[in-house]
Amino acid sequence: MKHYKTYIGGEWIETGQTIDVIDKYTGEVIATVPKADRKTVDMAVNSAYEAFETTKKLPAYRRSEILEKAANLIKDRAEEIATTICREAGKAWKYSMGEVSRGYETFKFAAEEAKRIHGETVPMDASAGGVGRIGYYIRVPMGVIGAITPFNFPLNLVAHKVAPAIASGNTIVLKPASSTPITALILAEILEEAGLPKGAFNVVIGPGGEVGEPLITNDRVRKITFTGSPKVGDRITRIAGIKRVTLELGNNSATIIEKDADIDKAIPRCVDSAFANSGQVCISLQRIYVHKDIADEFTKKFAEATKRLKVGNPVEKDVDLGPMIDEAEAKRAEEWIKEAISQGAQLIVGGEREGRVLRPTVLRNTTKEMRVMCMEVFAPIVSIVEYDSFEEAIQHVNDSDYGLQAGIYTNDIRKIQYAIDNLDVGGVMINDTSIFRVDHMPYGGNKMSGIGREGVRFAIEEMTNIKMVTINLN
Ligand code: SIN
Repeated sequence: MKHYKTYIGGEWIETGQTIDVIDKYTGEVIATVPKADRKTVDMAVNSAYEAFETTKKLPAYRRSEILEKAANLIKDRAEEIATTICREAGKAWKYSMGEVSRGYETFKFAAEEAKRIHGETVPMDASAGGVGRIGYYIRVPMGVIGAITPFNFPLNLVAHKVAPAIASGNTIVLKPASSTPITALILAEILEEAGLPKGAFNVVIGPGGEVGEPLITNDRVRKITFTGSPKVGDRITRIAGIKRVTLELGNNSATIIEKDADIDKAIPRCVDSAFANSGQVCISLQRIYVHKDIADEFTKKFAEATKRLKVGNPVEKDVDLGPMIDEAEAKRAEEWIKEAISQGAQLIVGGEREGRVLRPTVLRNTTKEMRVMCMEVFAPIVSIVEYDSFEEAIQHVNDSDYGLQAGIYTNDIRKIQYAIDNLDVGGVMINDTSIFRVDHMPYGGNKMSGIGREGVRFAIEEMTNIKMVTINLN
């Protein structure tokens, strides 16, 4: 078992208290990490505040070099990081390796974007009062950014906050999920080796009340960027005070399968989208709306493909699905399945739970009031629902408190355009499911799914202030 120190002010420090990190499949303690408190948070914020004097002056080419080096170091340590993700998050090996590749790419994109942060000229003479003046705006870093990240992507959702912050000359205090902090500490080693100035990146690990709240409410923090539950997102908006907030929250994601869809192509993708990382992805496929003419065939083939998934220890390379993050979450999901069945849903596959492992579960005859439908399940549970008309299917997708991403399988251009025009979501994926994401595209949701957008360039916009300049030539 390894003990890690935490990284504050460019030093590796102890806090006097520790948190155990467990292997989510075996239950074994694999590491201990320092537990932070209010004092540690203040120390981290003060370090970041002082380091901003350095980072705000770093030229773009230098910020880009640091990010490029960090990307390459992630690649060099890919196996080690993937194994860490597998064990601390319970994510199957192939998805852990996939996350490392994405983390590398997120840093690469940030290295590129660091060189093209710019403003534009403003045609001042469009107003009589502006005649004889030159006007333009520039984008400048904000200062200390507080980043709070979830357990489901311990590298790449950290990268989505840290890399754009570095690209734009800000400094960061990161609070990673307490259940998956090791990857964030490995990233700290990488950023130190890449030459990031001391104090520009700081890690504080601990519970929301003791660590998250002091970070969110600290007046020296200029912006909070958070990925997690709507409940915590709502709390952040209430306590943050006057600072910018980006929130990437949940979804009960849907995909529509029209009757002209190539279902043999759609099914493997839908199975993967429902069960990858045991459904613990904000854009996991949770509701599949299938045209009534193909619903029986779709369900039969979907069930057969689900039964072929291998459930087990995520470090084994051929395993498709590992455990959920903890037993309480697995029990909660099992409870929702039982409740749906008691309300009339039909169990097609799965439903069994052993400890943290919930088997991939397929339900039919679910209704919109059931928790497996109207709330974010964040578990390997998917519902197949029939519909009559495409317009009705679009209404079903929109009949949700959330609006992150949705998918549609059809080749009918009129239906595609209808969906683009009418879906109330942040991303529409044609001939793919809700789960599609690459790391340079804008990503974020409407309604309870959040505020603002991530995706490196878009995160940079949210991490910079516009500064307007006018020059009076009169
Ligand atoms: C998320 O769960 O919010 C992120 C999904 C992804 O990056 O693929």
